[in-house]
Formats: sequence, structure tokens, C-alpha cells
Amino acid sequence: MSRRIALLGATGSIGRQAIEVIEANPELELVAATSGSTPIDGLAPLTQTGGDPTELLERARPDVVLNAVVGFAGLVPTMWALEHGVTLALANKESLVAAGELALAAQRRGGGALIPVDSEHSALFQCAQLGDPESVVLTASGGPFRGRTREELVHVTPAEALAHPTWSMGPKITIDSATLANKGLEIVEAHFLFGLEYDRIEVVIHPASIVHGLVRFRDGAAIAHLGYPDMRVPISYALTYPERARTPVPPLALRTLEFHEPDTETFRLLALAREAGERGGTFPCAYNAANEVAVRAFLEGRIGFLEIAATVEDVLERVDGRPARDLDELVEADRRARELAERRA
Ligand SMILES: NC(=O)c1ccc[n+]([C@@H]2O[C@H](COP(=O)([O-])OP(=O)(O)OC[C@H]3O[C@@H](n4cnc5c(N)ncnc54)[C@H](OP(=O)(O)O)[C@@H]3O)[C@@H](O)[C@H]2O)c1
Repeated sequence: MSRRIALLGATGSIGRQAIEVIEANPELELVAATSGSTPIDGLAPLTQTGGDPTELLERARPDVVLNAVVGFAGLVPTMWALEHGVTLALANKESLVAAGELALAAQRRGGGALIPVDSEHSALFQCAQLGDPESVVLTASGGPFRGRTREELVHVTPAEALAHPTWSMGPKITIDSATLANKGLEIVEAHFLFGLEYDRIEVVIHPASIVHGLVRFRDGAAIAHLGYPDMRVPISYALTYPERARTPVPPLALRTLEFHEPDTETFRLLALAREAGERGGTFPCAYNAANEVAVRAFLEGRIGFLEIAATVEDVLERVDGRPARDLDELVEADRRARELAERRA
């Protein structure tokens, strides 16, 4: 098995860990890499910083596209890989949440594999090799503010929100983990990846981040996936699927595991994502766009922590959520939601 990998978002948290995985495996070859603005000359035979990566992907002819871009900017490589039947190892959940049906239609036309890199969805994907899921459980660490009340969250700072207890990740997903928007995006991601209705996708708080996901089958059996919180495992799985390559992650030692109900009153973005997913159309796209704008405003000190959810809720009330018939309409829905969010934030 020799695989040519195109890595989009090579300078990020996932991107750097992906390079580590690729360098440790002689059967994986990095043929192309991109970044947003950080120079990466010499990192791969073909590199690009900023701009549309389509031409780079055409020239690179990869076997696998690993999309580790952050945010809606990851839409182009997601759609390119799905449309061309090239295996897509997807970390960039935002593109699948926003594009939804259009992405699945592109995958049906292209006929390639879509392998999640998100640890929870990688876990569910692996469990689902054993049968068709009746329902799934996504676990959430609960982030740094688990157990706090709304009053206690009014004045939290970006630095406090960036201190995640179990995962070390890029800034946007770390804030999303503190608001539970990350788990909200993951509910929608699971809906599209596994074809499950929203009432079959459950979220539980599991502070240790050892159980990544659980699939229930119709015979009453449930299979869970366990491991230390280390993204090199799902990255390696997605790049070598259906094989399993060795990683430096140690064997798991068992201990007591706790699970709690999430507090959707305090962490509104979890409930809002589910609602946006159930309403369908471009509501998930608007949710994602408004959240991206609000997270940036919070990180720049322009709005408070609780205003991230308030901004998203407000935008969802204002957009029409009409389904996008093509990518142009999707990009327009994203733009409109961003504009509304910018005005509010
Ligand atoms: N980190 C994790 O553990 C983790 C776990 C599960 C899922 N994910 C998902 O993986 C994705 C990446 O997360 P991350 O934590 O690795 O993010 P990150 O550390 O912020 O890295 C983002 C990457 O995307 C590039 N980028 C930013 N804006 C871009 C643009 N407009 N066009 C092209 N490239 C752009 C960045 O390049 P520059 O360095 O040049 O800005 C960087 O390489 C996200 O969708 C996240 O939700 C991450």
C-alpha cells in the first residue's frame, strides 16, 4: 500500500500531527501541502499558501486528500475530493455541516470514500464496520467550563476558554469545545456521515475523553471505541484505512469512566445546532457561519462568551434557511449569515 497524500491546512494542529504520522510511515507520501498564510515552501513537492487549491490538487493527483483547514474555507478541497472520487480524510467538519446534501450528492457522483478524522466520528465509523447503527452516542469532554452556570460564564476570557482540559487543538475548535458548538457541529456531521435522523444521535458528557463514541445495534448490543485523546490515532486510521499502522500512542489503561447529561440551557449552541440540523436546508450553513464570526469576535475581545450563542441564535432567526441548489447558492447563504453576524457582533 503506497499512498500519495495532499494535506490541506498543513501548518495547523491537525496538519502538524498529520505530518508526523506521514513521516513515520514509509508507505505514505506527502505530495502536496497548503496553508492559509504561513509560508510552507519545501514542505512538499507542491505547496501553496492561500487561494483556491483546485489547480494544486489537479496537479498533485493524490490518492487521499486530508482536509485539515479550519472553517468554511475548507469547502473547496472537500468538494473537489468528493466530486473526483478521491478518498477524503475529513477533519474539516465545517464543510460537511455547511454543504450537507451537496457534499453527499458529490460523493455519490464521485464514488470515493469519506473517512472522518474527527475522533468521535472516526470512533463511530470504526464501530459501524460491525453493522448498521440504530443510534449513536457522541461523547464530549464538556470543555473548561463544564458545571458552570450562565452567571459564571458572563466574564470568562479568551485565555480561560482556550485552556482545554483534555485536548490540545487549534484556537477555533478549542473555543467551540468551550461553548459546545463543536459537539453541535458534530451532531450535524454524524447525521450526514451515518445517515441517521437527529433523534438517533445522542450526546453525553464524558470528562476523561477516553470513550470517543458508541454505536447501538438493533439486537441490543452496543460497541464503544476507547483510546487516549490523541489525534494521531484517527489521523493514522484515516490515512491507512482499512489497515492499522503502529502509532506512538501507549496501550490504554482502564479506569473508572463517568458520563453525564449535557447542560443545554447553559450551553445553548448544542441545542441550536440540533435545531438547525432538524430544520435542514441552509440552517446548518448559517449556524456554522455565524459561529465562525462570533468566535473570532470573542477571541478579539469584541464580544463576551455568552454572546457567541446569542449571535448564532439571532442569525438563525433572521435567515430563511432555503436549501442551496448549488455551491453558488451555498456560498451566498454563508455570506449572508456572516454579514448578519458581523452586524450583531
Ligand atoms: N485540532 C484538533 O485536535 C481537531 C480535532 C478534530 C477536528 N478538528 C478539525 O480540524 C480542522 C483544523 O483544526 P485545527 O485545530 O488543526 O486548526 P488550526 O490549528 O487553526 O489550523 C488551521 C489550518 O488551516 C489553515 N487555514 C486557515 N484559514 C485558511 C484559509 N482561509 N484557506 C486555507 N487554509 C487556511 C491554517 O493555515 P495558517 O497556519 O497559514 O493560518 C492552518 O494550516 C477544523 O475543522 C477542526 O474543527 C481539529
